Amino acid sequence: MNEQMNREIERRRTFAIISHPDAGKTTLTEKFLLYGGAIQTAGSVKGKASDRHAVSDWMDLEKQRGISITSSVMQFEYDGFCINILDTPGHQDFSEDTYRTLMAADSAVMVIDAAKGIEPQTRKLFHVCAMRDIPIFTFINKMDRESRDPFDLLDELEHEFGIGTYAMNWPIGCGQDFKGVYDRDKHLIYAFGDSHRGREKLHAIECSLDDTDKLDSIIGETRREELTEQVELLDGASFDFDLEKVRHGKLSPVFFGSALNNFGIEPFLESFLKMTTSPLPRTNGGETVDPFSEDFSAFVFKIQANMNKAHRDRIAFFRICSGKFERGKEYYHVQGGKTAKLSQPQQMMAQQREVIDEAYAGDIIGVFDPGIFSIGDTVCEPGKKIRFEGIPTFAPEHFALVEQTDSMKRKQFAKGMEQIAQEGAIQIFFEPGGGLEKVIVGVVGVLQFEVLEYRLKNEYGVDVRRTGLSYEHIRWIETPDIDVKKLNLTSDTKWVQDVRGNDLLIFTSEWNIRWALEHNPDLKLESFSRNTEQ
Ligand code: G4P
Repeated sequence: MNEQMNREIERRRTFAIISHPDAGKTTLTEKFLLYGGAIQTAGSVKGKASDRHAVSDWMDLEKQRGISITSSVMQFEYDGFCINILDTPGHQDFSEDTYRTLMAADSAVMVIDAAKGIEPQTRKLFHVCAMRDIPIFTFINKMDRESRDPFDLLDELEHEFGIGTYAMNWPIGCGQDFKGVYDRDKHLIYAFGDSHRGREKLHAIECSLDDTDKLDSIIGETRREELTEQVELLDGASFDFDLEKVRHGKLSPVFFGSALNNFGIEPFLESFLKMTTSPLPRTNGGETVDPFSEDFSAFVFKIQANMNKAHRDRIAFFRICSGKFERGKEYYHVQGGKTAKLSQPQQMMAQQREVIDEAYAGDIIGVFDPGIFSIGDTVCEPGKKIRFEGIPTFAPEHFALVEQTDSMKRKQFAKGMEQIAQEGAIQIFFEPGGGLEKVIVGVVGVLQFEVLEYRLKNEYGVDVRRTGLSYEHIRWIETPDIDVKKLNLTSDTKWVQDVRGNDLLIFTSEWNIRWALEHNPDLKLESFSRNTEQ
């Protein structure tokens, strides 16, 4: 049993795929699944309707349950590995959940559009990955189109993100003139042709850079000269490859390719699987929990509410951190102080949800939640008391004042707001000493406001009035025992408190944050709350 469990854990790889919308994340995910044989045709991961839906559609889709659930975690097999891909939703659905999903991953694949380089959402997601120092692999996509200079792209990654890069392969031309890539390690040319639309293996041509005649016949003299020059430059000026740095998120291996054309997917997957490790250990009050331990443990990183008011149930998503999960066994819910069976455990295999009997460290399972779990909660073997480090609360970027329109519904309003906030769908803030009728709601993605209104009305029978506020930034005050009233702040900076009673400041601009820090030397601000008191 032990050996079998170890083998299962050993072969697991759990990664998140991050990008700015349109860089090619869906296409790349789909190609991974195609290579793994989990799906048969491209276009089946997400229909365009669910991918680019309007706000009103979203409600309908979400009511039917499943669309965003099925597309959020996918498991597939490749070359003996069992791979879990965590999807991070695009601009419409961008929310705090997107950040939290990254807490469940052991590495990230960052997809970048070769013509655009780093874009705002890439930036946000990268920083959350960097907080945990997880390995980040870069796939520079759309080389079949006109692209930016590859050196420029690497330079941008290094300067903006403060990490090293190591180009695993190097593009030969781009757009109409894209000839393929040169694999620096294997000294192989992968030539780009019309034949990449199937699932067949990439045709590699073994060819050293010194074999000029052969190179000329494949890519032409001009391209050969350019390639030789660029590879020399790269060898001389770039970082050395260092696997330890990769594994600590300090050096990002970079691959060039074209997801749409199936070009570069397989070499990417192969290198990726070689460089990544089996599930990473998590910590419990400073102590490391070994993923291969026989004792099962897992934490909740996402809660998906059911929009159907007849069933106020939810699905809690757990990342398994150690051991083996067995259906029907009693586990201990640490924060609730009770043992419970995790009912209807399910896993997502490409588009299907399946009830499962067992799962292993590294896997993600969704379980039916009658309303007992919160984000960050731990379950483990009875008799143990593991508490994994809390999932940080991330700074919202949009704020609104939300008030109930019917004062007779005060209780329902307060209950709805509290429960929805507890699920982590929104964050709520209060003015110190203020009443509970007016709540400042903060969200990471604006769609969350719509969801809040919809849910308050449908599940709690409460109509609300929402007034947008011009604040854009929030910071937790980290200085202990500071008298917030005595702080020297600009008139448009506001003091609020979160549900835990922590003091925060909300600002209308970055300039105001700098002003506050300059005029209050003791003030320490943080853009996320570590929730370490959990
Ligand atoms: P996303 O999930 O990151 O938002 O991106 P998605 O995969 O949906 O890709 C966005 C657009 O970019 C799609 O085109 C897709 O076909 C295209 N694309 C992805 N990879 C490549 C590539 O390697 N080369 C080129 N040239 N295009 C690529 P679309 O026109 O918006 O959709 P569709 O009509 O092609 O499906």
